[in-house]
Amino acid sequence: MDDLFSLKDKVAVVTGASGGLGQAIAVGFARHGAKIVVSDVKDVSETVKKVEGAGSEAIGLKVDVSSKDELKGMFQAAEDEFGGVDILVNNAGILRTGPAESLPKEDWDVVINVNLTSQFNAAQEVFPFLKKRGGGRIINVASIAGLLAFNQAIPYNASKGGVIQLSRSLAFEWAQHNILVNAICPGIFLTDMTQGMLEQEGFQQMIKGNVPMARHAVPEELVGAAIYLASKAGSYTNGHAMVVDGGWTCHL
Ligand SMILES: NC(=O)c1ccc[n+]([C@@H]2O[C@H](COP(=O)([O-])OP(=O)(O)OC[C@H]3O[C@@H](n4cnc5c(N)ncnc54)[C@H](O)[C@@H]3O)[C@@H](O)[C@H]2O)c1
Repeated sequence: MDDLFSLKDKVAVVTGASGGLGQAIAVGFARHGAKIVVSDVKDVSETVKKVEGAGSEAIGLKVDVSSKDELKGMFQAAEDEFGGVDILVNNAGILRTGPAESLPKEDWDVVINVNLTSQFNAAQEVFPFLKKRGGGRIINVASIAGLLAFNQAIPYNASKGGVIQLSRSLAFEWAQHNILVNAICPGIFLTDMTQGMLEQEGFQQMIKGNVPMARHAVPEELVGAAIYLASKAGSYTNGHAMVVDGGWTCHL
């Protein structure tokens, strides 16, 4: 039982991992023995250094998840460098806000594309690589916004709801290939995406009033859930949407 949470000899690909939740997951996986392919549209050298500092190996790649070709190249690079792919964390994501009635079509399109369509494309592209290894894990980063609606965030809410259903659909279809697919639904974590909101007193008060734990989280607090879903510990968990939100969505 002592290797229940081990990722030794596993190769993990994490998208959107220049910082924030993706970086924390990449470093957490490295501490548990996985080799990591770190990708983002931004520079990922800091995450690569942190993975190496955690005692593992990493390569850093510039990848825009809205390009199916770049996604394919990312998995090929993982195979070329580390011999294959075992775990994919679809983490890259963006937020656009505004009232539904006047939200620009471009905002809708880009959020659905980056947050949802890219996860489907990445799943299709990683499928042959996971099959070659006899199976694997896909962890799709959704949000509690996929379960309940944040105000004036319609494309984000819709994209994250889509991620949960995408995960269930893939879990259903690919269990026969020993590929387990799950979603994670974080509450509010301090990252570049949320820093501006968290600096507002009103937002802090809203968190205190709604989250039973009366605080936001730091990225390291998501790592345990991701390791569970990536490791032997999660060997019978499939099609689940794991909420990590300090209890926000447990009450009315
Ligand atoms: N921080 C939170 O409270 C929170 C809550 C729920 C869900 N999430 C989700 O967690 C994931 C990570 O977000 P975060 O909070 O770490 O924010 P973040 O902004 O720090 O990280 C998102 C990363 O995705 C990258 N990215 C954006 N567009 C990309 C593209 N087209 N191709 C490749 N990379 C791209 C960004 O460069 C960035 O590094 C997102 O999917 C987000 O929706 C975050």
